[in-house]
Amino acid sequence: MTAKSSPQRVLVAQISDLHIKPVGMRAYRRVDTAAALARCVKELNRLTPRPDLVVISGDLVDAPSQSAYEHLLQLLAPLEIPFAAAPGNHDDRDLMRAALPDGYASQSGALNSLRAIGALDAVLVDSMTPGRDYGTLERETLVWLEAVLAAAPRRPALLFLHHPPFVTGIEHMDVQNLRNAGELAAILQRHRRVRLVAAGHVHRAVATNFAGVSATICPAPNHAVALDLEARLPPSFTIEPPAFHLHVWSAGEDFGSVVTHWVPIGDFDGPHRFHDGHGQLLWQL
Ligand SMILES: [Fe+2]
Repeated sequence: MTAKSSPQRVLVAQISDLHIKPVGMRAYRRVDTAAALARCVKELNRLTPRPDLVVISGDLVDAPSQSAYEHLLQLLAPLEIPFAAAPGNHDDRDLMRAALPDGYASQSGALNSLRAIGALDAVLVDSMTPGRDYGTLERETLVWLEAVLAAAPRRPALLFLHHPPFVTGIEHMDVQNLRNAGELAAILQRHRRVRLVAAGHVHRAVATNFAGVSATICPAPNHAVALDLEARLPPSFTIEPPAFHLHVWSAGEDFGSVVTHWVPIGDFDGPHRFHDGHGQLLWQL
């Protein structure tokens, strides 16, 4: 595989909330999350240029079991791009570590990891609270993150975690947010090299600002959390166009810049040319 990283540009694809079940089972008895991930992997493999890394930001499985993680590994096997993962509230640390054993900062406890890609650091932190849906950065994780960011103060970084540290307006998800977002904000303010905070959990594309840093939520390859800003519905999901995020970091002043592309998954009409090759707009012909 050709490495696409350069001092000028690094591409990181983010996929999130895969919710894989054991073979033959659907999430919520309705959503074929395995087929959705298979389509997502196909889409990632055909991206040109190839991303340097795929980050999976939590909820790799729907209900943790060895067979669910084995199914996940089968579905990820065709992925031709290196990947790294952080857990979500639907994961189990021990089962996930057993399935994906490489790259973590410690042999037990939180699944934090640092991936250096050319001039950029991808920092993945474990925000799961065992037995709960809401997120927490444990003391061990906060100490690790502070140390990692302090260790290379001149390198730009993207920070990935499952639980958003900000509200979206979707109430039943907001109550499951990162509980100690203030402690994360304080770290980001001390280490300005983090250029993006990229979360998952909400199964929707969201963009905002957190602690002065651009912040996003990655959509899912399967079901979406219903866009309900008035709590009209009981917690609900809908089937919307599946998608993932492609973060493009470019070198520049102040740790460079990041653009996030929303990438729909599927086969669509096109591409079609705008011009006839001689500068003539085709719609004028
Ligand atoms: Fe989640």
